[in-house]
Amino acid sequence: MATRKIVKVGDDTLRKISRPIKEIDKRTKQLLDDMAETMYASEGVGLAAPQVGVLRRMVVIDVGEGLLELINPEIISTEGSMVNAEGCLSIPGRRGTVERPEKVVVRALNRKGREIELTGTGLLAMALCHEIDHLDGILYTDKMIEDVTDKEQGQ
Ligand code: CO
Repeated sequence: MATRKIVKVGDDTLRKISRPIKEIDKRTKQLLDDMAETMYASEGVGLAAPQVGVLRRMVVIDVGEGLLELINPEIISTEGSMVNAEGCLSIPGRRGTVERPEKVVVRALNRKGREIELTGTGLLAMALCHEIDHLDGILYTDKMIEDVTDKEQGQ
């Protein structure tokens, strides 16, 4: 495993559409390992492949309930709405509020190529939406209601 360099806002890579994974090979698994290591090293709760410069539809998430590795994730249903402050490893030092669904159901493949469906609420729902947005070149700042960077200083 190795940590990878995180692409920062301003880099075009973050604005591109990532391509689906057709075959889960050794390189795919290596990338998932590296993404998880990079996320943990940066103390983030999620990371999408384009954030390490790879335009492939893969995300890793850990909101404190264990590591989730999602390949070709798709939101298949949403429920409710909530507004929370978000940050992004590609936009260091900044926070902003975004409206997201309170509950999402996501379908994806795991690293074994098996189809999985998971339901996320609260922080997990937010992380799923935020990371899946990255695969379509969308940053949370595009949807930001209010920049709360200064308000949260000292936290
Ligand atoms: Co992000």
